[in-house]
Amino acid sequence: MNKQIIIVGGGGHCKSVIEVIESSKLYLIKGILNKAEAAEKEVCGYPVIGTDHEIPRLIAEGYCFHIAVGHIKNGEARKTLFNRIQDAGGEMPVIVASTATVSSRATLAQGTIIMHRAFVNADAQIGFNCIINTGAVIEHDAYIDNHCHISTGAYVNGACKIGELTFIGSSSVLVQGVEVAAGNVIAAGTVVTQSTKPGYLYAGIPAQPKKQIAR
Ligand SMILES: CC(C)(COP(=O)(O)OP(=O)(O)OC[C@H]1O[C@@H](n2cnc3c(N)ncnc32)[C@H](O)[C@@H]1OP(=O)(O)O)[C@@H](O)C(=O)NCCC(=O)NCCS
Repeated sequence: MNKQIIIVGGGGHCKSVIEVIESSKLYLIKGILNKAEAAEKEVCGYPVIGTDHEIPRLIAEGYCFHIAVGHIKNGEARKTLFNRIQDAGGEMPVIVASTATVSSRATLAQGTIIMHRAFVNADAQIGFNCIINTGAVIEHDAYIDNHCHISTGAYVNGACKIGELTFIGSSSVLVQGVEVAAGNVIAAGTVVTQSTKPGYLYAGIPAQPKKQIAR
């Protein structure tokens, strides 16, 4: 029997996550935990069954979890939830869309999701709780640290390294071998041709540091 999974976060990203989990045919979605102030009673037909206060009880009842809180610019909320669930002994499986391609030589860590039509090539390593969004390409030998979001249609070329909590915007291109520092925000459509320094938002072709990120 398929394991039952709880989705944490009920916004727009949750809808795309539901499509991926359904396509994988490995999990039955029990319901969604959302913010107390959220008005929705259901998302894509699945019930909102409470808030994140329910997590300890649901772990004890044997459910596994996926964090579907979005990450534009700042991934701290996703990291906090991940650590809470992990510290409480909760399971967060790797989830791969039916239309994604993941090399058998790639490694994916707990809580990461590979969304529709994404491609992860040989010897790529992806850390905990990452989003590899629709149509993104992670090339051979790339290393992506924990809690990163590689947005729709982004290209992370061979042997790039991406630090923890980094956001890579849609349709960005990372030239092979560049290192993107932890916590960087790479705006949509940026072409990163050189390694970046920590604490900055980068945009443009070629990428330029635009401003410091306040955390
Ligand atoms: C970067 C982003 C998050 C905006 O962040 P922000 O903190 O509000 O940044 P600002 O709007 O203050 O922009 C800062 C500077 O970067 C520039 N900039 C921002 N986004 C840019 C982009 N995509 N391309 C080129 N320049 C961009 C701004 O023009 C501004 O430049 P300036 O200081 O020379 O005027 C947003 O523009 C973006 O790219 N979002 C990503 C969307 C996306 O990929 N979503 C994925 C969903 S899966």
